[in-house]
Amino acid sequence: MKELNLAAVSEDVINQLPKGALLTVKANDKLNTMTIGWATVGRIWNKPIMTVLVRFSRHTHEVISRADSFTVSFSKDGSLKSAFATCGKKSGRDTDKFQECGLTPVYIDNIESPYIAEGDLHFICKIVYKNTLEPELLSEEIKDIWYKDNDYHCIYFGEIVKILSK
Ligand SMILES: Cc1cc2nc3c(=O)[nH]c(=O)nc-3n(C[C@H](O)[C@H](O)[C@H](O)COP(=O)(O)O)c2cc1C
Repeated sequence: MKELNLAAVSEDVINQLPKGALLTVKANDKLNTMTIGWATVGRIWNKPIMTVLVRFSRHTHEVISRADSFTVSFSKDGSLKSAFATCGKKSGRDTDKFQECGLTPVYIDNIESPYIAEGDLHFICKIVYKNTLEPELLSEEIKDIWYKDNDYHCIYFGEIVKILSK
């Protein structure tokens, strides 16, 4: 594994997100992973920051709301393609997605949330802020397209503490 900086991988993030990525979270004894397609990377508070958006209905939300870290694993070589499909429709409430998809959690340093060994680009993040979308502050266009069912996102801001690449 190589350690990279954010500038070196920002383009990969933009290119890979439409294919999916795995957001993995552990808090206490609960571990879960789900597919995401939306995230941002940038600089806030003079720190490299990644944000992820998790709807309240997700099992992942139950875990991440109690967590102090998350990881995001991409698959530039395509080997997680079928995991992205499964982890984007099955819930950790009733499926062990690690077992079903053959995913291996890898723990580093003192970070509670593992990354997924089968990926090839990983963001390891410490949660520094979270914020629920405020419906009254959102454009009507976005509300109509994405939130007809009132299942809003909570946005988690993670300080990127490590970026690892195969
Ligand atoms: C390509 C793709 C991208 C997705 N992106 C997100 C996302 O950014 N945020 C989100 O809350 N759900 C997203 N989902 C839906 C979750 O992955 C899906 O509901 C999953 O089953 C939730 O699992 P959980 O209940 O174990 O958390 C996406 C699904 C797919 C297929």
